[in-house]
Amino acid sequence: MSTQRILLIIGGGIAAYKSLELIRELSRRGIQCRCILTKGGAEFITPLSVSALSGEKCFTDLFSLDDEAEMGHIQLSRSADLVVVCPATADLLAKAAGGHANDLASTTLMATDAPVMMVPAMNVRMWEHAATRRNVETLRGDGVTVMEPDEGAMACGEYGPGRLPDVPIIADAVEAELARIAGPKPLEGRHVLVTAGPTREPLDPVRYLSNHSSGKQGYAIAGALAALGARVSLVSGPVGITPPRGVDHIPVETAQQMLQACEDALPADVFISVAAVADWRPAISSDKKLKLKDEGKTLPALTLAENPDILATLSHKTSDRPGLVIGFAAETHDLEALARAKMQRKGCDWIVANDVSGDVMGGAENEVALVTGSGLETWPRMDKTEVARRLAERIAVALNDPDDRQVAAE
Ligand code: CTP
Repeated sequence: MSTQRILLIIGGGIAAYKSLELIRELSRRGIQCRCILTKGGAEFITPLSVSALSGEKCFTDLFSLDDEAEMGHIQLSRSADLVVVCPATADLLAKAAGGHANDLASTTLMATDAPVMMVPAMNVRMWEHAATRRNVETLRGDGVTVMEPDEGAMACGEYGPGRLPDVPIIADAVEAELARIAGPKPLEGRHVLVTAGPTREPLDPVRYLSNHSSGKQGYAIAGALAALGARVSLVSGPVGITPPRGVDHIPVETAQQMLQACEDALPADVFISVAAVADWRPAISSDKKLKLKDEGKTLPALTLAENPDILATLSHKTSDRPGLVIGFAAETHDLEALARAKMQRKGCDWIVANDVSGDVMGGAENEVALVTGSGLETWPRMDKTEVARRLAERIAVALNDPDDRQVAAE
């Protein structure tokens, strides 16, 4: 999915400083800002701070030869998925409603072919003035999205509607607008269950058996599925990374808890078992800390019990079996043959065969091959987020064409 881009027009008002926070928040959400700072806006913040935060040149002047040589104002107005005016002053609203084009901001608003969203901020009397009411109505009639300002104490000492909404609320609205423009996503309405990370099998309250899984690949897959519109339940063992935005994160510790959480999350359209589930747990887990030499006894022997196989259990369910079940196979050799055997044994539909002979565990990259009922797709070594994106897109294709579930792509 390509990066989303907005053109942010920063008007003149005390709220202009919040546009700097907005640039940061949007970039955190993967949305890039190219900015125009009006003359009024430049009285409150500088082009330097805007370009430092956006990482791009900040445009200010309609008649600047430099600016025009770099990017003409018509091209600038068409270079984004969405134009956002924040803060939108009474003057900017009036200019846009009246069709004026006498500076870079107003010319851009006239010339753009992208949807426009305005985030007004002004004194309460100005917001309630009949002229502003008229302008807002005209703009909405023209298809412009005009956010309602917040109510509260204003910088000028008055109280009422006119304050700029909080930055995360504006960022949510921008995201929603971009989603509306992009149209329906291929996994919308689908529920995908993903397991990730290691499990921890306690010996006593302070010791456990576990493994080195970082959870990176599973978390990246959960994020990529959510980005394609899926509702994602991410059942995860203990890891040191933050769950992706928009994902339902269900933390667990042991394999038994992981299985229970998965059963509870069903029904699902797809199950992807990425977790490095510990195959065994200590047969007895003491609720008191074990002592090295308890009353002169010799070292305790460690007896293990087998953990449930979560992938096999969900694959073999007679009711509520997810339509597409995908396992991972971490192998150091004979990748395809071992993956196929594992697919048979566990009863899943696809296996992502993972070559762990190198530095994959905990690293940023992964080298995988996708094994389906009748074919093999080898993917080059790539970043774990890229593996995730490809897998999510592959799943979207398969769900929209059920015959494809058994068939490898070209
Ligand atoms: N898996 C699982 N529950 C387990 C063990 C594994 O759900 N108790 C899942 C993993 O999430 C993965 C797949 O089974 O999707 C294969 O895991 P892997 O560790 O490669 O296979 P094992 O079954 O442990 O087989 P082996 O270690 O013999 O290769």
